Amino acid sequence: MSAPHSATSANGVPTLDVARLREDFPILGQQINGRPLVYLDNAATSQKPVAVIDAIARYYREDNSNVHRGVHALSERATAAYEAARETVRGFLNAASSKEIIFTRGTTEAINLVAQAWGRSTLQPGDEVLITHMEHHSNIVPWQMVCEQTGATLRVAPINERGEVIMDEFERLLGERTKLVAVGHVSNALGTINPVARMIELAHAHEALALVDGAQATPHMVVDVQALGADFYALSGHKMFGPTGIGVLYGREALLDAMPPWQGGGDMIKAVSFEGTLYSDLPYKFEAGTPHIAGGVGLGAAVDYLAGVGREAIAAYEAELLAYTEARLQEVDGLRLIGTAENKAAVASFVLEGVHAHDLGTIVDHHGVAIRAGHHCAMPVMEFFGVAATSRASLAFYNTREEIDALVTALQDAQRIFG
Ligand code: ALA
Repeated sequence: MSAPHSATSANGVPTLDVARLREDFPILGQQINGRPLVYLDNAATSQKPVAVIDAIARYYREDNSNVHRGVHALSERATAAYEAARETVRGFLNAASSKEIIFTRGTTEAINLVAQAWGRSTLQPGDEVLITHMEHHSNIVPWQMVCEQTGATLRVAPINERGEVIMDEFERLLGERTKLVAVGHVSNALGTINPVARMIELAHAHEALALVDGAQATPHMVVDVQALGADFYALSGHKMFGPTGIGVLYGREALLDAMPPWQGGGDMIKAVSFEGTLYSDLPYKFEAGTPHIAGGVGLGAAVDYLAGVGREAIAAYEAELLAYTEARLQEVDGLRLIGTAENKAAVASFVLEGVHAHDLGTIVDHHGVAIRAGHHCAMPVMEFFGVAATSRASLAFYNTREEIDALVTALQDAQRIFG
């Protein structure tokens, strides 16, 4: 970036130069079906700035080699780039040590890692894992699997009509059998920001560990794992303007140290014989096989880019844009917002009377507007609200009020067609 993208307004709230920011994202300049692309499917995956695209291309053009193995110059450069990215991510999450940053394929793999490495070796029949009703399937199924494997029980904290966890019930479900609380920081289907600091505090008061699924939080807000007190925190690179296929598990060093590895192979060993294997130190113990080196480098570039934009400025801008979005959506007859929590990130899920979510998605696409329609990998949430699917507009800091207006026009068109 040649110049900062944010400035401070008169009242001290940072502001973004969104028009200039959009130039960093070449994909946003195109037309879809003869209209300017309006990309409102950021919770599924975010777009990539030139800084990330260039970092990946540069890595493959100039440094491509395997890491932690060769003594030749390219291998040393690739290793340095990959490990520099780990340190960048450490700073982004404010982890105490880069040994606590495990690269994974994404949030899903990070949660499965904890379920299999920690859960399978620790959970006993009668132990409990507590999640909430609004979790993404990635924070449900790995726990169902490990509960089946160990005889532990999965408990689910209920939510209210606004899509918020009922905290009294959450607290009531915590007990001496609870070994882990696993909760999403931000719901992908509803946008709810959960009070994770309080939930972690309550988990710890019951001597349970706490894992946070941060996939939908890291693109929108400052996350400090030490301030939160999280034992584990998972994120996906592609949701936060980095590449697909790379994610992170943050884990407290003492916990990771005590956990057995979950996958075996190259790079996670110190010595192998047919009598047995000596495992590597952290973080390599959990990174079997050749890693996604270019992905790590791209994620590091995405973190640097986000820092340049300013995460406080992003949060302030998106809060204002979400308020505008929800107000404009209320103007559409027969539209019902699903997820009206007091504390929300930039997600607006809704149903439109008389129009199936998938038909709606197709019609708005004719207007160049990309939204997601479906169950959003959160089928229990759909069941709770009594709908098979919702339409979801999920925002990023490069979205504008004009784009929200285009969405509303497209929705009104859909209504005319089906009305
Ligand atoms: N979990 C992603 C979403 O919410 C794919 O769309």
